Amino acid sequence: MASRHVSVMSDEALGYLNCAPGKCVVDCTLGGAGHAMDIIEKILPDGLLIGIDQDADAVKRAGRMLAPWTENVRLIHDNFVNLPKILLQLSIDSVDAVFADLGLSFDQIEVSGRGFSFRKDEPLDMRMNPETGQSASDIVNTLEARGLARIFKELGEEQWAGRIANKIVERRSVKSIETTGQLSDIVRTCIPRKDAARRKTDPATKVFMALRIAVNRELEVLDAFLDHAVNLLEPGGRLCVISFHSLEDRIVKQRFVSYARGCQCPPDFPVCNCGKTPQLKILSKKVCRPSEQEIARNPMSRSARMRAAEKL
Ligand SMILES: C[S@@+](CC[C@H](N)C(=O)[O-])C[C@H]1O[C@@H](n2cnc3c(N)ncnc32)[C@H](O)[C@@H]1O
Repeated sequence: MASRHVSVMSDEALGYLNCAPGKCVVDCTLGGAGHAMDIIEKILPDGLLIGIDQDADAVKRAGRMLAPWTENVRLIHDNFVNLPKILLQLSIDSVDAVFADLGLSFDQIEVSGRGFSFRKDEPLDMRMNPETGQSASDIVNTLEARGLARIFKELGEEQWAGRIANKIVERRSVKSIETTGQLSDIVRTCIPRKDAARRKTDPATKVFMALRIAVNRELEVLDAFLDHAVNLLEPGGRLCVISFHSLEDRIVKQRFVSYARGCQCPPDFPVCNCGKTPQLKILSKKVCRPSEQEIARNPMSRSARMRAAEKL
């Protein structure tokens, strides 16, 4: 089936990636392969696109879409945190550009049947790669109330985190929580009516997002990935990241600033002791956001934030 995912900020991303014939570009998040299709057009006839996704369905679909250019494409089913290993296996030392468009594709939310959406009643899994790690129902049925509350509070900024966690523990002692319907019912009973009415989104939104981030260890993975990406870029190579969550965007922003500064010594040190030199030049002085026209065309792009940098 063709992807129904609509790529976000494509022209801007292509500009930052500086794609040109002959370049070696890694798309770490194939998804619906929209960005990948744009990239391949720019790097032909002799460039190489390495496409990664931890969702096997996305890799299969990308394989069909990119079939005319098999000579110029390598597709890998893996987590992008393993970028060094992936490039080693392809005998590639360094690349010209690395791109990551984080989060979920429309296909994962709407047709995967893996419980990413509270609007559907599906098994509560939420793993982008169902072959590895704990599912959302494993976490919801085993983690103690304090741990659950921390996830909802820290990753979802859910005000009623403690109450929701306690209710989950109470309900699961009677019957284990296996579906998105069961979880969203619990969340809805814990949020006072007045507060629910004030919210712009469904009362279950924050808990579902927090749980998905925890299940896929999205923040830890992003943090480690940025180090790898910077190390593997050629001088002059480009790194471009689109995020959809304020915590992710904060990680990207802070890491870019830290790489651009180099020295990590405390500001009151008279001379540098750490010996670290700047490794990146930040290209997106201000975070790049979708235009109003793009948001009107594709409301899912609303929360996208893009940052880009060049390896020194
Ligand atoms: C927003 S979609 C990408 C859409 C794509 N750029 C397009 O234009 O169609 C995000 C994709 O990244 C994948 N993904 C998220 N985190 C990942 C990770 N740590 N490793 C590999 N793939 C990941 C998801 O499985 C999903 O398919």
